[in-house]
Amino acid sequence: MEEGEEEQVTVAPPHVLIFPLPIQGHVNPMLNLAELFCLAGFHVTFILSHYAYNRIHHAVTARFSTYPAGKFSLRSIPDGLPDEHPRAGARVLELGSSLKSSAKPLLKQLILTHQGQPSVTCIITDAFEFVADVAEELRIPFMFFRTFSACSFWANFCVPQIAQAGEFPIQGMSHEEMDRPVRSVPGMEDILRRRDIPRFWRVNCDINLAKQTMKSAIQESRRAKGIILNTFESLEGPILSHIRSHLEPTRLYPIGPLQARLLRKPNSAGGGGGFWKEDNNCMTWLDAQPDDSVVYVSMGSVTELTQTQLNELWHGLINSGHRFLWALRPESVVGSETDDRMGQGQGQGLGRVVGWAPQEDVLGHRAVGGFLTHSGWNSTLESIIAGVPMICWPYFADQFINSRYVSRVWKIGIDMKDVCHRLTVEKTVRELMEKGEKRDDLLQKAYCMKQTAIKAVNNGSSFDILIQDIRSIII
Ligand code: UDX
Repeated sequence: MEEGEEEQVTVAPPHVLIFPLPIQGHVNPMLNLAELFCLAGFHVTFILSHYAYNRIHHAVTARFSTYPAGKFSLRSIPDGLPDEHPRAGARVLELGSSLKSSAKPLLKQLILTHQGQPSVTCIITDAFEFVADVAEELRIPFMFFRTFSACSFWANFCVPQIAQAGEFPIQGMSHEEMDRPVRSVPGMEDILRRRDIPRFWRVNCDINLAKQTMKSAIQESRRAKGIILNTFESLEGPILSHIRSHLEPTRLYPIGPLQARLLRKPNSAGGGGGFWKEDNNCMTWLDAQPDDSVVYVSMGSVTELTQTQLNELWHGLINSGHRFLWALRPESVVGSETDDRMGQGQGQGLGRVVGWAPQEDVLGHRAVGGFLTHSGWNSTLESIIAGVPMICWPYFADQFINSRYVSRVWKIGIDMKDVCHRLTVEKTVRELMEKGEKRDDLLQKAYCMKQTAIKAVNNGSSFDILIQDIRSIII
């Protein structure tokens, strides 16, 4: 080397292993993160269950085929359930525990045989304790990616306080009693009502169990190098501060909305990874509809409807007189047989039903003027990015709190939780879709929120810090 010449040190790009709970609502944001990592030059290994792999590997492989060979690798392990086992409704919870017993012994082996890629530098996973155990054993830093909103994450943290304050249990109460405030969650004193508490916690909350569960959740979180959330400061800043103060020194990375971050990247392939086959004909149908005239209806990938709920929602929509596009997932109606009324509705030209829609494209279509949603966090963010106001009809888990924030705090939707009657559905759809003070207000707030989300991804601070922090890991 000549005098004065600096030695060039080539630093190998990091190799991140991503392991989500293998259901749509968790796989989607993790795939988006995987793609952002590929765009940053990282190597990525993405782990699915065999079941999920069989459903989406063609689409995922096509999506990542634009990246150099070896940058992205898709692997799979068994989830411990037979293929025909239900993976929707409340039974989706069984997936976590069966995955633990079947995947844990294989995970270590999979991490150590990295098929021509560099050694794994960092593991990003759903809140799986067993992955954290394996990572610690192999001395690989890990982070948890919680695919929920910060507000729901924080309310769950505070369940012991709610129980301590005697605000549990919430059972057998009148409509008025359910509307009473829950005051023991710091930062949410004037926001939460009893009916916003997820059903899981509403009933018979055992204070000791709650304390134990949350203590272990907090301790688990602190084991991680970082907690990633698909949210942004200008949406959930005050709540993020509360979470930060409890997690330190674990770092919090609010890097969302990932969907919009990816849209900004000119080379991203986007899309690709739906567990059901998308019916793209609905886009042609939308093309034929007037601007802002269609209500898009979707309850996500886990919700199950009873036949009664289906009927009430259906008649409410038809009676509202507004056009609608309903993504009604196959087998999502419990005990359902073919329903003639749906055929009639389509015949009236008002509605169109598909099994699975290209949701982000649908929400971005000029004909869509409102979204009747179960308030899953991905759907909520996608609606925010599209500037589309919502009717929220939450089904379970985080959705109860998301819908409260959408209606009460961000004021970009109407919360219809706990009610499923055709008259209410009709009235709420009219309120959402018909010109007047309410719609004008919702539209204006939704427009502002969309701009805020765009600004959040333009100013990439938390995401850039995450990239730097992963690059700086030396193992
Ligand atoms: C689950 C939980 O229910 C949710 O609350 C949590 O925040 C994430 O995991 P899910 O119920 O499926 O997810 O809802 P959601 O988070 O909204 O995710 C559904 C995803 O499927 C969205 O990204 C949506 O775009 C996509 N989707 C849905 C389609 O692509 N097509 C459809 O027809 C319906």
